[in-house]
Amino acid sequence: MTFEEASKRVKELTELLERYNYEYYVLNQSSIDDAEFDRLMGELKMLELEYPALQSKNSPTQRVGGEVQSEFKKIPHKRLMLSLGNVFNDDEMRDFDRRLRDILHVDQIRYVGEMKIDGLGMSLIYENGELQYAVTRGDGNMGEDVTSNVITIRSIPAHVKEMRPFEVRGEVYMPKASLESVNIQRSLNGEPEFANCRNAAAGSIRTLDPKVAASRKLEAYWYYLVNSRELGEHIHSNSLDYLDELGFRTNHERRVLNGVEEVIAYMHEYAEKRDSLDYDIDGLVFKVDNLDLYDSLGYTAKEPRWAIAYKFPPKEVSTKLLDIVLTIGRTGRVTPNAILEPVRVAGSTVQRATLNNEDFIKEKGLMIGDIIGLHKAADVIPEVTEPIVSRRDGTQTPWIMPETCPVCGHALTRVKNIHYCLNEDCDSRKIEGMIHFASRNAMDIDGMGESVVEEFFAEGFLHKIPDIFRISDHAEEIKALDGWSDKSMNSLIDAIEVSKTRSLERLLFGLGIKEVGEKLAKTLAKRFKNLDVFKDLKEEDITVIKDVGPVAAKSVVDYFHDEKNLQAIEELREYHVNFDYLGTDTLDVNSYFYGKTIVLTGTLSRYSRDEMTDILEGIGAKVSGSVSKNTDIVIAGPGAGSKLEKAQKLGVEVMDEEEAINHLARTGK
Ligand code: IVH
Repeated sequence: MTFEEASKRVKELTELLERYNYEYYVLNQSSIDDAEFDRLMGELKMLELEYPALQSKNSPTQRVGGEVQSEFKKIPHKRLMLSLGNVFNDDEMRDFDRRLRDILHVDQIRYVGEMKIDGLGMSLIYENGELQYAVTRGDGNMGEDVTSNVITIRSIPAHVKEMRPFEVRGEVYMPKASLESVNIQRSLNGEPEFANCRNAAAGSIRTLDPKVAASRKLEAYWYYLVNSRELGEHIHSNSLDYLDELGFRTNHERRVLNGVEEVIAYMHEYAEKRDSLDYDIDGLVFKVDNLDLYDSLGYTAKEPRWAIAYKFPPKEVSTKLLDIVLTIGRTGRVTPNAILEPVRVAGSTVQRATLNNEDFIKEKGLMIGDIIGLHKAADVIPEVTEPIVSRRDGTQTPWIMPETCPVCGHALTRVKNIHYCLNEDCDSRKIEGMIHFASRNAMDIDGMGESVVEEFFAEGFLHKIPDIFRISDHAEEIKALDGWSDKSMNSLIDAIEVSKTRSLERLLFGLGIKEVGEKLAKTLAKRFKNLDVFKDLKEEDITVIKDVGPVAAKSVVDYFHDEKNLQAIEELREYHVNFDYLGTDTLDVNSYFYGKTIVLTGTLSRYSRDEMTDILEGIGAKVSGSVSKNTDIVIAGPGAGSKLEKAQKLGVEVMDEEEAINHLARTGK
């Protein structure tokens, strides 16, 4: 083969391989199989070996990663690579649009909405139909020649049909799926994982070994033809279509938007769709579509006026961990909390976050003074994600779990992974106990929240739960406190009065008996009806109840055998706090079932047996387990047996579930 023949064949092979790359990596479809592709690639490799002069840096053979570089050459940008101004919400977007309309003296502007890809800004320079350089943004003025790495991204055309010089800008990024597989590989190799797609893309482009870059499965989208008008294209959206035509990969989520309201609808649409994209976006970019307006709009110090970025609210932010402090709950449970430099995340300012327990802190390796990641779990509860180890500067100090309660000095006890302060007289436990008593799901004392209880405790007006009911003894002193008035004092006294009439289950829950949550409190109240009954209960009286275990039963019995608790109950009695279960306040004398004795049998489908029992008892019926001559009604579902037979024998009224529900519906229950 002569050199000329070889040169011709190299050109043919290059064109073929480029076309197949384009089909596969840009269009996601391919017209040949892998083996044929490999064969052509093999042939090209052989020719390049034989005739090194025929090998160009843009050869398809270089896509797997060429030679290791010693450094990246600095290249000045012909036109500055600017950043974008930001807006964070609808109103700021409307303001941006108004400013532009004022400058242009028009009523409406046509924009192009685009994804703001979270990757690495990149510029490609083409001359004579061939890629010359790929340059990073750098400081906007000067970038680095990373062509050898960028060329490993197969979707980037090495040759194009446009022969005039042009520059195209876009974003190199790592798809979410690639990040996952790269991180799995890195953790297998004992290397630190990449925190996000952007860091991974930046790290991969800045590696000096193109083979490493090639292995990272990077992608790119191209969003701006810099010298569009020189090429005769005056509309941005058309220039993107032209980039498509030249074989560039552009993002097809883009949309031409007429006026700012369409822009805002697009913002809302993509705030929703964001997570379903297979690449990370940190916002959207809106550009004026008519390139001829760009000159009159011009630039601010560092940003073009003809484009704007809408930034999504960050899901994760970083801030400084100033300290870790312990709080002690009413049960004595100790919780470490992060004290943070205040930071806004998902719509509110956060300066505290729970750290759960000692092991949580150890597993994350948190140090005081660390910059940490923070996000909101389920969009509400602030959660520390991890320390950003790369931002440590030597001033960080380790945190050690204290051995004693910071409030009362009592030694802490660790049970499984939780620490407790077992001192029942710990001020913190007492305060938390009263806060719980007054809380919404317990005695619901309006105006007696956390800070009020804390303040009253500090002033010495409150020591224990019954003190709440004699708070009026301190009315004058309280009114003298900052932020208190006759009015607020009176409403607090009223709220305390009202709370005295609450039903037993709220009192039981409010007392803070270990193991007694809202649900068990209700079950117990319903069953035993009055607080005094509890003093004589034995564990077996309680464990007979379905779903109540021995631990809870023992805890209840212990509580009512503790002298201090009995004393508190006596004090509550003196203040006429209601001890009765008032569940019957839903009594409905008009109900068909009111005052009747009812037996449930067979399978109920709409309600469970327990639920139906609750409903019937609530409206004043008695639910019994066996059929006798005292039974008024049997509600029988499928599978009913002997009880139904007996009822029929005794001539007791029988109905099915549907009929029962119809009766209930009539009473509004
Ligand atoms: S246009 C002068 N369009 O965001 C206008 N930028 O904060 C040049 N980016 O440096 C930028 N997606 O790296 C534009 N569709 C998009 C973009 C985008 C991501 C990046 C780009 C730029 C940064 C600005």
